[in-house]
Amino acid sequence: MNVPKHIAIIMDGNGRWAKKRFLPRIAGHIKGAEVLRKTVRFSGELGLEYLTLYAFSEDNWKRPEEEVQGLITILRNFLAENTKEMVQNNVRVNIFGHIEDWPKDIQEALRKICDMSRSNTGIVLNVALNYGGRTEIVDAVKKIAGQVKDGLISVEDINERIVSDAMYTAGIPDPDLLIRTSGEMRISDFLLWQISYTEIFVTKTFWPDFSKKDMLEAIEDYNKRERRFGGILSSGK
Ligand code: IPE
Ligand code: IPE
Ligand code: MG
Repeated sequence: MNVPKHIAIIMDGNGRWAKKRFLPRIAGHIKGAEVLRKTVRFSGELGLEYLTLYAFSEDNWKRPEEEVQGLITILRNFLAENTKEMVQNNVRVNIFGHIEDWPKDIQEALRKICDMSRSNTGIVLNVALNYGGRTEIVDAVKKIAGQVKDGLISVEDINERIVSDAMYTAGIPDPDLLIRTSGEMRISDFLLWQISYTEIFVTKTFWPDFSKKDMLEAIEDYNKRERRFGGILSSGK
């Protein structure tokens, strides 16, 4: 089995998982955090190089205060309980998104997990937290405009490479496969620039039920795809 280099996952369906069990939505998020931890572990074992997980979008602040507070508590506990283990397991962590909107202690814990894991050589785990795909593009445009203003580059120099290097994913290859759990057929503002030729796999499984089996099913399906990137295959197909 050919394991792609980079898999991105929209971890969706925590609320519906809980509803089905007559539990509060937050119970789905708690189970979801546990599944995230397991997913990182088996992804590393599978030999995946990059795993990018959509954990909280900038639009998720619109949810009821109680749910947002619950998610903040889960994030706080997750970092307290898992930072050491992840660093020891050679996981390298990056955070994509505006971390300054999180409470101070969480900002510190996020910086700590990134700093402590910086020289790790195992799987690269990118966690999109308070992330927006359009915001990422706006941030990149500002960065490039600044470079032009400072005379570092000219407008004519701007190309795809320069834009890619201004994204949060600078230096990281585009995802080969994007998985969305819980059946929704949409992107919800995730990695808009990076997924231009990414293969998409949507599973009906709710995120708290996601397992290694679902991941392998997605990878198997990916292996059957013909990636053409706008060209034709050498077989002439
Ligand atoms: C994904 O599950 C987790 C977050 C967006 C934080 P949801 O909470 O969106 O679950 P559903 O889509 O309501 O079932
Ligand atoms: C996308 O899921 C964001 C995350 C999984 C973190 P949402 O549940 O927020 O997306 P919509 O509202 O269904 O588009
Ligand atoms: Mg959802």
